[in-house]
Amino acid sequence: TNPSLLILPGDGIGPEVMAEVRRIIDWFGDRLGLTFDVSEDLVGGAAYDAHGTPLTDATMSRAQEVDAVLLGAVGGPKYDVLDFSVKPERGLLRLRKEMDLFANLRPAQCFDALADFSSLKRDVVAGLDIMIVRELTSGVYFGEPRGIIEEGNERVGINTQRYTESEIDRVACAAFELAMKRGRKLCSMEKANVMESGVLWREVVTRVGADYPDVELSHMYADAGAMQLTRWPKQFDVIVTDNLFGDLLSDLAAMLTGSLGMLPSASLGAPMANGRPKALYEPVHGSAPDIAGQGKANPIACILSFAMALRYSFDMGDEATRVEKAVERVLADGHRTADLLGEEGRAPLSTSEMGDAVIAALDAS
Ligand code: NAI
Ligand code: MG
Repeated sequence: TNPSLLILPGDGIGPEVMAEVRRIIDWFGDRLGLTFDVSEDLVGGAAYDAHGTPLTDATMSRAQEVDAVLLGAVGGPKYDVLDFSVKPERGLLRLRKEMDLFANLRPAQCFDALADFSSLKRDVVAGLDIMIVRELTSGVYFGEPRGIIEEGNERVGINTQRYTESEIDRVACAAFELAMKRGRKLCSMEKANVMESGVLWREVVTRVGADYPDVELSHMYADAGAMQLTRWPKQFDVIVTDNLFGDLLSDLAAMLTGSLGMLPSASLGAPMANGRPKALYEPVHGSAPDIAGQGKANPIACILSFAMALRYSFDMGDEATRVEKAVERVLADGHRTADLLGEEGRAPLSTSEMGDAVIAALDAS
């Protein structure tokens, strides 16, 4: 049977960038005979407009059944007035929560042609290709007790960093599996020097590592990790870290590489009956209301999210590389959407022209 994919374009530029991914999916069918069982549905504001809810139960169950979900973006000013319970973001949060997507994968990849966009020197970032795995469903953002309490004559804000062994174990397994599909190097980051959760984190990751003798495991304090990420990021392959440190480190790593329009992501959960992990792929960017409907959006983040789905859900690593190489080719040839032009005066490509260029590069590959 064909691998199944649920496409949720969402709002704003979501449908615009997703249209270019659809063309690439069609190209895979027409040219390589690789056919996906694709279904498409509404999420976010678009679902609210049609059904009065940002994610229907039917869409939720479909997401639980398919091999992978690919989402565009949700939200927009039109929906800012809505009640919290039906805001577009709730649709995305429900997907993440009910699919129990505990491992958030954020690659930081720097295409040579865009190295000058980075906040760092060209030779530090050119060719960079690392992956940060952030634990997404536990840690200090969720731990109890939490709250603001009265103590003596002042208030105290309380959050609790809390990790169970099984929570650390499952995200560590996901990171090791990933490292096996990449450069076989994993660096775990915590602060075992000052935090009990860090001590346990290091112990459990080390234990899981015994099952992956082919992966070179190292440990680093997260603050030193931030320093090393800006000093010489190419020393890393896969980094695994908790929710809070991962939030900071993945944003930092993203800026090593330049535009928001280039950054894909994946969120993975437990393996399903067929052995594939539950998975949601989406660009890091939002619905970009400032450019929505104008054909200006850069579709590459969404295209690279599909490439991640090929690699991590469908075991099509070669095909994923082929898409990534096509994107690299297009950029090397100077093709640019507006977000990649900066101060340059030349005319930018439209969303669909960038899609044309990627398809042409795939044809030529
Ligand atoms: P945003 O990512 O939508 O836009 C930030 C800036 O980057 C804008 O100037 C936008 O034009 C530009 N940009 C983003 N993606 C681009 C692309 N593919 N090509 C070219 N330029 C691009 O973030 P913002 O403005 O903070 O949020 C807008 C809406 O999106 C809000 O409703 C927010 O809640 C929602 N949002 C949704 C996310 C999601 O669906 N996962 C993530 C972040 C924001
Ligand atoms: Mg953040």
